[in-house]
Amino acid sequence: MRFTDLTLLAAAALPGGALAAAHANAHAHAHTNANTSSSASALLSSGTLNLGAYQSAYFKAKELVSGLNTTEKVSIITGGSVDEVWDALQSKDGMSGVNMAYYVSSFPLGNALAMTWNASRAYDQFLATGKEFYGLGYNLVNGPEPGPLGRTPWGGRAAEAFSPDPYLSGIFMGQSIAGQNAAGVISVGRHFILNEQETNRGMSGTTYSSVAGDKATHELYAWPFADGVHAGMGAIMCAMNDVNGTTACENKHTLTDLLKAELGFPGMVMPDVGGQKSSFGSANNGLDYGSSQYWSDSIIEAGLRNGTLTKAKLDDIAIRNVIGYFYVGLDKNPAPSVADTTANRHVMKDHKKLIRDVATESLVLLKNTPGENVGLPLTEGNSIAIFGAHAGFPLAGPNLEFSVMGSSGDTFQGHLTSPTGSGAGSASYVITPQLAMTLRQREDGGMLWWITNDTYTESSSSGFPGGSGTGGGMGGGMPGGNSSSGGFPGGGFGSAPGGGMDGGDGMGGGGGGGGMAGLGSGTGVTHSYANYASSSDACVVFLNALAGEGADRNELFNDDQDTMVTTVAENCNNTIVVINTVGPRLMESWIENDNVTAVLYGGLLGQESGFAISDVLYGDANPSGKLTHTIGKNASDYPASICETTECDFTEGVYIDYRWFKAKNTTPRYDFGHGLSYTTFKYGSVQAKATAPKALATRYPSGPRALGGTKDLFDEVVKVTTKISNTGKRDGAEVAQLYVSFPAEAAQPARILRGFEKVHVPVGKEVDVTFSLRRRDLSYWDVAAQKWAIAKGEYKFSVGASYSDLRGSATLEI
Ligand SMILES: *[C@@H]1O[C@H](CO)[C@@H](O)[C@H](O)[C@H]1NC(C)=O
Ligand SMILES: *[C@@H]1O[C@H](CO)[C@@H](O)[C@H](O)[C@H]1NC(C)=O
Ligand SMILES: *[C@@H]1O[C@H](CO)[C@@H](O)[C@H](O)[C@H]1NC(C)=O
Ligand SMILES: *[C@@H]1O[C@H](CO)[C@@H](O)[C@H](O)[C@H]1NC(C)=O
Ligand SMILES: *[C@@H]1O[C@H](CO)[C@@H](O)[C@H](O)[C@H]1NC(C)=O
Ligand SMILES: *[C@@H]1O[C@H](CO)[C@@H](O)[C@H](O)[C@H]1NC(C)=O
Ligand SMILES: *[C@@H]1O[C@H](CO)[C@@H](O)[C@H](O)[C@H]1NC(C)=O
Ligand SMILES: *[C@@H]1O[C@H](CO)[C@@H](O)[C@H](O)[C@H]1NC(C)=O
Ligand SMILES: *[C@@H]1O[C@H](CO)[C@@H](O)[C@H](O)[C@H]1NC(C)=O
Ligand SMILES: *[C@@H]1O[C@H](CO)[C@@H](O)[C@H](O)[C@H]1NC(C)=O
Repeated sequence: MRFTDLTLLAAAALPGGALAAAHANAHAHAHTNANTSSSASALLSSGTLNLGAYQSAYFKAKELVSGLNTTEKVSIITGGSVDEVWDALQSKDGMSGVNMAYYVSSFPLGNALAMTWNASRAYDQFLATGKEFYGLGYNLVNGPEPGPLGRTPWGGRAAEAFSPDPYLSGIFMGQSIAGQNAAGVISVGRHFILNEQETNRGMSGTTYSSVAGDKATHELYAWPFADGVHAGMGAIMCAMNDVNGTTACENKHTLTDLLKAELGFPGMVMPDVGGQKSSFGSANNGLDYGSSQYWSDSIIEAGLRNGTLTKAKLDDIAIRNVIGYFYVGLDKNPAPSVADTTANRHVMKDHKKLIRDVATESLVLLKNTPGENVGLPLTEGNSIAIFGAHAGFPLAGPNLEFSVMGSSGDTFQGHLTSPTGSGAGSASYVITPQLAMTLRQREDGGMLWWITNDTYTESSSSGFPGGSGTGGGMGGGMPGGNSSSGGFPGGGFGSAPGGGMDGGDGMGGGGGGGGMAGLGSGTGVTHSYANYASSSDACVVFLNALAGEGADRNELFNDDQDTMVTTVAENCNNTIVVINTVGPRLMESWIENDNVTAVLYGGLLGQESGFAISDVLYGDANPSGKLTHTIGKNASDYPASICETTECDFTEGVYIDYRWFKAKNTTPRYDFGHGLSYTTFKYGSVQAKATAPKALATRYPSGPRALGGTKDLFDEVVKVTTKISNTGKRDGAEVAQLYVSFPAEAAQPARILRGFEKVHVPVGKEVDVTFSLRRRDLSYWDVAAQKWAIAKGEYKFSVGASYSDLRGSATLEI
């Protein structure tokens, strides 16, 4: 793109003052255009949309397109360039950093990012990832992703998104878009819409069709996309699946009526792979970027000739292809040329620090029974044993082999920091917990033992698998061993025969006995969960759950890993479990075991994962993450599993995650919003105040159509306040959550999240917390009126530390 040329070209083509005139015209139109059909109002030229921050980008885009002939427009909308005027946008996947490249950073995935409940972290992270994309020459980034929302815990791709709660997801979406825009790249929010599972997604064979009601579509699935539009999202990706029987990328109801007309989306709709299925079905129903197979010069020309496609529509499509470019300032600051995928453009900067901070802040302390040398934080200088493949390095790394059709299993045999498929980061290195804890134990003068395998048994102690041993081998064995368990054969646990370690007496051919018996030989005790566990002050067991693009989850817990936990816990009364997961991970087989003294839970944390986990385990950081989904006791606690039929009916309506648990009166294992700290917090009383009583008195919003919906939906109408004090012994941060109960008319779940504030609270101090509620936060979707409505009646504002741990409330009559 050479904007200087364009400016000259435009200046030559337009009479002086054309911009100002066009501007005035647009405003005049806003009041006079009587055509309210969605197709008409979905055109950016309709003049019925208040473009807000996109206004000047629109004029620039319109100016560019007005100077083009059809061939040139077709080139742009099929991803091509136009000499001297337009360089094709450079697109790249990336939910947590640049996908498939060298010398880039791997950030926490969406599911981890949201567990911070600190929205400015989303801004920071997407600004940083955006800069890496930009530096490599990519200016159209496929992400962030609020869809799948998380209807089902089995969804393989839900980890790329933020949370099944639409409000939380929406706040994170808005901040992510704002951050990525600030990096000067165009964001492609994805996948629009009702794309809740991978099975039968439409890549090949069967394609499922999601059928959701209008209320659920608005109140759940479109909600976070509206935040994205409001924040300036420049592009969106329609999904591969069908919606209501029509392919998502050619669905007039969702793309034209909902996204462009109702939500005022000014940008470009692009298809996921294979999402476009026809020429005019796509163009006329809302797709803006397509394949030259369907949109060749001759097809488009023929459509224009016989009226199947209007010039106004083609211009609108073309404008939407370039508007985001102007909006994020690529005309003034064009990205450099695209780097070779192996080139080092030094884009990582100091992002490792942000990555570690975000990952640390995202970790959720689910359970802790701290005591003398028990629970978390770990006591410095102790003997610690770590268990599980997830603690250490996989055989090869740092990244998984790229696969969009699922992974080799539901757990990963190594430390899991990223999912599979296009959501995967491209780590330049990975810090494992084993590495971080080794360094820490070394500093503290402690000991660290490990078995980085999920299925190691004493009977398999007839030798660690060849190749993973200690090189020279143990030779004649260890001193002081015992012979009750088969043990290691002479020749030891390396593949290599060797001269032996300690002079070769003792254990050779025998092996250590159970329990403390092995202590006589220092760390050279027979390798078994039991021996290590019973010989350690703390036993940390690492579990993971893997999924990604192309395949859904097959399990919500893993028998091998759970058996490992119970085996360790049988022998260690200070067993600490660390989990990194792609979605809800059930833990019923051991969670009530008293020997499990702490559980630390998180999403996929990116390249600094081990440091983040270690920082929290040792208490260098005080945990402040909270659950972004509900952890049930049984898979059957959730409203939906994977839909195996062609038609997938979202019969649960708006009742997903905590909304469903509450409606069914199911007690979860851990509530949505739950998360402990190494300190304690006390909440003060709660006050609610209407800050815009006049606005609240009107049933429907009355403002102009704007980015994200009717403009005044985003205005504050109520403020809720409370105070939080730190009653414990160390500084910490708390996430105060606001849940609203609506009058019956609104037909809402018992209470829903409508605010959260994360605050630092020093020991002994008290801080103010304020929740600002926008009109949309107190509205419900009135299906008959096709508008957001405020129900009359009593609203209850409950503030708490989780969905069920409510600490105070206030009511307001509206
Ligand atoms: C409104 O716009 C649509 C689509 O462009 C068109 O078919 C219809 O005739 C218009 N109606 C009026 C009243 O202008
Ligand atoms: C359209 O513009 C291109 C230059 O970008 C030119 O080569 C082509 O001849 C033009 N087409 C028509 C039909 O004028
Ligand atoms: C699907 O169709 C139903 C029934 O016509 C309608 O209520 C709903 O709004 C449609 N949903 C979407 C997302 O188009
Ligand atoms: C107009 O032309 C297009 C492209 O050739 C064709 O697909 C479509 O059927 C035509 N429509 C009419 C009404 O002739
Ligand atoms: C874990 O240990 C078991 C039993 O010794 C062995 O069969 C398996 O190959 C090991 N797994 C890995 C990933 O090394
Ligand atoms: C070895 O095992 C025997 C029999 O179980 C036991 O009597 C003895 O104390 C054990 N030795 C050590 C060093 O643990
Ligand atoms: C807890 O650990 C101790 C060893 O410290 C063991 O004796 C006990 O059986 C364990 N309890 C459970 C429930 O596993
Ligand atoms: C836990 O086990 C250790 C020995 O492994 C023992 O010293 C300690 O008293 C036990 N603690 C509890 C609370 O049972
Ligand atoms: C989980 O729910 C299913 C179906 O209701 C039931 O058969 C099963 O026993 C439950 N499992 C547990 C561990 O409670
Ligand atoms: C939230 O994130 C910002 C960085 O964006 C950080 O400065 C702040 O400390 C975090 N807030 C809390 C309460 O942790």
